[in-house]
Parts: sequence; structure tokens; C-alpha cells
Amino acid sequence: MSQTNPAKITLGDKTVDLPVMKGTLGPDVVDIRKLYAETDAFTYDPGFTSTASCESKITFIDGDKGVLLHRGYPIGQLAEQSSFLETCYLLLHGELPTAAEFEPFETSITRHTMLHEQFDRFFSGFRRDAHPMAIMTGAVGALSAFYHDSLDIHDLKQREISAHRLIAKMPTIAARAYKYSVGQPFVHPRNNLSYSENFLRMCFAVPAEDYVANPILTKAMDRIFILHADHEQNASTSTVRLAGSSGANPFACIAAGIACLWGPSHGGANEEALNMLKEIGTPERIPEFIEGVKARKYKLMGFGHRVYKNYDPRATVMKQSADEVLEAVGDKNDPLFQVAKELEQIALKDEFFIERKLYPNVDFYSGITLSAMGFPTTMFTVLFALARTVGWIAQWKEMIEDPGQKIGRPRQLYTGSGPRDYVPVSQRG
Ligand code: SDX
Repeated sequence: MSQTNPAKITLGDKTVDLPVMKGTLGPDVVDIRKLYAETDAFTYDPGFTSTASCESKITFIDGDKGVLLHRGYPIGQLAEQSSFLETCYLLLHGELPTAAEFEPFETSITRHTMLHEQFDRFFSGFRRDAHPMAIMTGAVGALSAFYHDSLDIHDLKQREISAHRLIAKMPTIAARAYKYSVGQPFVHPRNNLSYSENFLRMCFAVPAEDYVANPILTKAMDRIFILHADHEQNASTSTVRLAGSSGANPFACIAAGIACLWGPSHGGANEEALNMLKEIGTPERIPEFIEGVKARKYKLMGFGHRVYKNYDPRATVMKQSADEVLEAVGDKNDPLFQVAKELEQIALKDEFFIERKLYPNVDFYSGITLSAMGFPTTMFTVLFALARTVGWIAQWKEMIEDPGQKIGRPRQLYTGSGPRDYVPVSQRG
């Protein structure tokens, strides 16, 4: 990065020059690291709306233009021309692999898809109706109980094997969470299948008959994983970085990311968005629903974004996937897809949404697609977590390998009581 003219800040009788740093793309940053030492004041930015928490080379988002790049490659090109595993390699290593580089990577992931035999007992500890995200949070955290040989975060090889194990095992754990919820036997991974085909088979195969995934659904699944792979310093990625900054092992950090992603304002929005479309039910009920949004009774789930103040480029691809999958499963006129398209058209022309720059995000159409593929709504955020694991672990790896890395420890604006003496209970009230 380069530096430009410093920023000056004057607090009382003190004026401080703060360095201004310029990245490859995007806004400059004011380096405030010495601010407290020189002015005795903190900055204040609770939702991190104006704060860069780190330097990164992995993903760039231009929210105004609706641009998303992974290591410089536009998401639309990766979704159309790459595969999820190739995108995993790109996110982890910074370059698209040659065939000779990709082959051992793919083999390593394939060979780590199985789980320790004892691991399966975790699932029977949950109620059958447990939310699959509760199972994912617990199960992924428990991985650190099985892989003591790869917990030294300062060992490059151990960081790499942990990353491969997480990318490889998330589909197996996610499929088991689904099978457990529907009372069907677990299906083991097969090394002769591609990543997404293997996942669909582990979810939908039953012992009673052979299962071959529909190639259109396999391609759609792989594309959906690409769309969800990484997204700069979003809430769950920031959670993973903060957990990792203390030196916690990668399995525990990813479990923390899963917990954060579950929230309805973040990864949980895909489940909420489909529930919302079901509640609206028909295009005729859209105007009444929109009025409720304007009255702030509820939000339009799958709309709006902290960074995108334009159409989320992932939503564009997701909408195309919805079309393809619905056609493939013979449900082209799915009423919920019609409601979603009508709702989008109405919202995009309505001043309330226009002035707030609210556009569809990645979660608006994903639920329709995943539902058409056979997944229950409770699995939608699990699929998001499965795909985002590579982004989380790539960002975690980048942080651990940053020589300037320090434990994250924000401060606060304290507005509580000043000092006061203890009062015995006999003298209170
Ligand atoms: C993801 O950060 C990432 O990159 C996340 C993600 C990723 O890949 O990791 O992209 C994935 O989480 C996508 C977002 C999924 N969430 C939803 O779809 C839930 C609905 N969206 C909102 O909750 C909201 O838009 C957020 C949380 C996504 C963004 O919230 P912000 O940036 O904090 O915006 P805000 O709450 O300050 O909203 C600004 C205004 C407010 O209106 P006023 O009070 O100023 O009048 O817009 C309104 C908000 O009330 N608003 C909405 C709205 N989103 C914002 N009003 C109705 N419906 C909405 N969806």
C-alpha cells in the first residue's frame, strides 16, 4: 500500500498528523493506531460503519457499483467459469491453480471428507428437531477434540491441513445434520464424486435405492457455494478474525463464525426471506406487506446491505440459478418465485427503498433455489456456513500470517456510574 498526505485531527490544544494509506482499490484509510497515545481519545464506531479492521488481499467489494472481486476476479466470471474447489484454492493461495497445482489440492480435500467414527455419536446427543445450525455450531467446535495433530497455528503445514479438513468435512457434517433431522441413516462420502455431487448424494441418497445427482442441480449447488465463499470483513468473518487473534484453534474460530452467521440480520436471512415469501403467499398481498415494511413492523428480508448500495452481484447470479433449478425440477411457475420477482419489481420502484438504497442481496433468491433442490428452510444457513468456511479460513490464515498481527481488543465510550462506595443491604432502598 502507499501513503498520501496525512490527515490532521485537532482535539483541544493537540493537533495530530495521522498517516493516510491508499490500497489497490477502494477508500483510503486513516491510520489511527497512535491516536489514543497522542490525544488520550478513542474513535467511536459501534457498527464499524467507517472502520477498516485489517488489511486484506482476498476480497474487494465496491458497494456503490455492485462489484465483488475474489483475488481480483469478478464473482460473475467465477460463478460461470470456475468450480467451488478451484475458488477455494484461489481464496487460500491468491492465484488460480494450474492443473498440476489443483490436482493434489483436490485429492487432499477428497481424502479428508470422512469423519472420525466416534464423531457420529455427537449427533445422537441432539434432539431430532434441533435446528441444524445448533448442531453445526456444536459439531464444528468439537472437531478440535479430534485433531490434536493440527492445532499449532504457527506451523504452516498444520494450518494447511486444518484448512483442508474444514473445507472437506463441512459437507459431511452438514449432510449428517440434515439426515439426523429427517431420521434417515447417514451416507458416507464417495471419493469418485465431485465436491458438490458428493454433498448432494450424502443429503439425498437412501439405502433403499441408488442416487445420482441431477447435473443441473449439481452445477447450481457448486455455483451457490461459489457465491457464498467469501465477502470481505462481514460480521461472521470479523468474528473468526477476532477469535483467531487470541490464538484459538481454527476449528473453534470457525464454530464462532457459524454462531454469528446464524443471526437473521446475517446468514439467517435466507431462511427468513423464504418464510417471508410464504407468508405473503400471492402477488396480490404484496402492497399490504410493503406497507408493513414502511411502517417498520418488519424488514424486507433478503433486501438491504451494509456495503452494497446497489444490486448485490450475487443476487443476479442467484436469480438465474433459481430459474434453472425450477426448470430442472419442473416447477418453473413456482408461485413463491413469482411473488419474489413481483416483490423485487415493486420495491425497486418504491421511494422508501430507493432513498435507503435497498436492493436484493444474496439471500433474497437463495431460499427459493435451495427449497426447489429439496432442502428445508432450516438447512439454508447451514449451506451458507458450508460455503463460507473457505472464506473464514482464508481470512483467518491471512491474519495469522500477518507479522503485525495482535490480539483484537476494542475500547469503549463509558457512560455508566462514576466511582461509589458499597452499601450494605440493610441500608438500601
Ligand atoms: C448477509 O456484511 C456482509 O457482507 C453480509 C453478507 C455476506 O455475504 O457475508 O453479504 C450476507 O448478511 C446479507 C444481508 C442479509 N440480511 C438481510 O437480508 C436482513 C434484512 N436486511 C437488513 O437487516 C439490513 O439491510 C442489513 C442488516 C443487511 C444492513 O443493515 P445496516 O447497514 O445496518 O442498515 P441500517 O439498518 O442502518 O438501515 C438503513 C435504513 C434504516 O431505515 P431508517 O431507520 O434510517 O429509516 O434502511 C432500513 C433501516 O430501517 N432498512 C430496511 C432494510 N434494511 C435496512 N428496511 C426494510 N427492509 C430492510 N431489509
